[in-house]
Amino acid sequence: MEIQLWRELLDPYEQAVSELITKFNNLKAEHRKRNLYSPIESVSGRVKSVSSILEKMKHKNVPFERLEAEIEDIAGLRIITQFVEDIEKVAQLLYQRSDLEIVEQKDYLANQKKSGYRSFHLIARYTVDCIGGPKPLFVEIQIRTMAMNFWATTEHSLQYKYRGNLPERVAARLTNAADAIFMLDNEMSSVRSEIMNAQIDSQMELQLVKDILNCIENIYRLDNKREVAKIQNEFYRIYAAHNLEELERFHRQLDIFAEGYQAQSIDDPLSR
Ligand code: GTP
Ligand code: MG
Repeated sequence: MEIQLWRELLDPYEQAVSELITKFNNLKAEHRKRNLYSPIESVSGRVKSVSSILEKMKHKNVPFERLEAEIEDIAGLRIITQFVEDIEKVAQLLYQRSDLEIVEQKDYLANQKKSGYRSFHLIARYTVDCIGGPKPLFVEIQIRTMAMNFWATTEHSLQYKYRGNLPERVAARLTNAADAIFMLDNEMSSVRSEIMNAQIDSQMELQLVKDILNCIENIYRLDNKREVAKIQNEFYRIYAAHNLEELERFHRQLDIFAEGYQAQSIDDPLSR
């Protein structure tokens, strides 16, 4: 197979990875915009390198004609969560999607691998629209916590370094590390609701501050400089107290004030 053909083969997979990264990031953003906790922490993806594909074809005895049907991870997406509980939530979100047809699920959380590997995998059919028309292809989606990802990335580098033959002492260390990761994930789960609430609060605070500043700017534009200085001082005082309820109350009052002010200035013929 020539280089040119590889590119032709891999381009739709590049497109799939790029589209899905955007779509999964949008899922995260949608949660944020609605002040909801997002089970997605971060998203990444890659297209398998030609050398890895060749290696896998050889290893699994796959001929070129069967390449796209049998190598299901040419396009790979990874969704990282904060908590173990979020993994199932993400999987549900993906099962619901109309642009993904999940054809296989591998639960290495319930069935931890001998290596110590834990992760939740989905193989899905996804269609990209190319010049030549729609092209369905397989994508592999790995969903795991930040802690699981830390372990898997490290283990992968070590496997690479030792070409799959880990010395016993290294393998033993990795097994210990996998146990520690398991405990860490459990510990984090036990404070999950507190962390989630804190995150939602800080998100809401960010949004409120943005809205309040917008509002103050609008009033300033309507040209009541002295009033604005007073409002701003009051805002700084409330902001420093870090009380979300106070901030919400201030925002409501400011909104009413701004509306009244706007109505007044529209009525005022001099302001036209
Ligand atoms: P292959 O596709 O041939 O790898 O085997 P499979 O179809 O049984 O897939 P599996 O679900 O076992 O693995 C798919 C991917 O998960 C791999 O390409 C890795 O990215 C990851 N993975 C699986 N096992 C391990 C492991 O022990 N360590 C690490 N670091 N990653 C793993
Ligand atoms: Mg596989």
